[in-house]
Amino acid sequence: MRIASRRLLLAAAVAGLPILPAFAQQAKEIKVGYALAINSHYGAAAQAWADTVEKGTNGAFKFKQFPSSALGGERELIEGLQLGTVEAVIVSTGALSNFVPDVGVVDIPFLFRDTAHARAVLDGPFGQDLLGKFKGRGLIALAWGEQGFRHLTNNKHPVSTPADLKGLKIRVTENPVHITAFRTLGASPTPMSWPEVIGALQQGTIDGQENPMSVIVSAKLPQVQKYLSLTGHVYAPMALIVSPNLWSSLTDAQKASFTQGAKAGAAASRKFVDDVEQKGLTDVKAAGMQVVESVDKSAFQKALEPAYKQYATKFGQKTLDQITGTK
Ligand code: PAF
Repeated sequence: MRIASRRLLLAAAVAGLPILPAFAQQAKEIKVGYALAINSHYGAAAQAWADTVEKGTNGAFKFKQFPSSALGGERELIEGLQLGTVEAVIVSTGALSNFVPDVGVVDIPFLFRDTAHARAVLDGPFGQDLLGKFKGRGLIALAWGEQGFRHLTNNKHPVSTPADLKGLKIRVTENPVHITAFRTLGASPTPMSWPEVIGALQQGTIDGQENPMSVIVSAKLPQVQKYLSLTGHVYAPMALIVSPNLWSSLTDAQKASFTQGAKAGAAASRKFVDDVEQKGLTDVKAAGMQVVESVDKSAFQKALEPAYKQYATKFGQKTLDQITGTK
């Protein structure tokens, strides 16, 4: 060791400064973007993902969270992955089927019997094959997390049957399956990116929206919506995805760590949803929402029959049978 370097090390030791080896690397920053607040199921998932990767790679990576659509709506987040301007995102299937059309099948109303059924499908061969289809679209999807079943909120009147929806301007995601469903039900579906929704509800340019209890609570929808109908019309998963740029730069061990972290994130989101489904209803009632608990779901399914024909043509009856036949 040269005398000057030795002196520098000695001075650092005397001053109590940490002595780092010359090859010590700075942690690579991973920007993770999502639409909701940090204290949502998305925030819980991002934190579990970050903790697992940071620990599993001995600090080679440091996650920086961008909650509340800070990097744009979900469409922009997905485009950001393809362009390499963001490394990781957590998004709903709302905008995803514009990028990976096969994903649209999980958005079919009343397709899943209950949460256990949806989790079995997404964790089983069908859901895992679906994750594999992202690769062909410039996206690396690592796990399916969860938002819960979507319910309807609005400011006009209580909705318990499809007839009550007539003419209501309902914000839907930019998702052809959701748009077809609400049009078939007689509503006036208005596709809109999430960051615009709260303002549009406040200004009355839309009457309502639909999202799971996890979103209704974390986005404080009782402040801008009077009525909640527990329609449970669509199961809403979320996907934990990374950019191909990041993925191709990782070693196999690091890839395993990102995948394990995404699964931990998915589990954290499901735990959050289980909790919020329990106490969310009490919270939204306490916040002044009028809740219609006895929704006539079979009337909704009947009214959706023409849409089911379109879905079968689009996704294939065999695919639908594979999902409904999963135990
Ligand atoms: O309704 C949506 O667009 C999504 O469910 C949301 C709220 C952005 C969460 O991903």
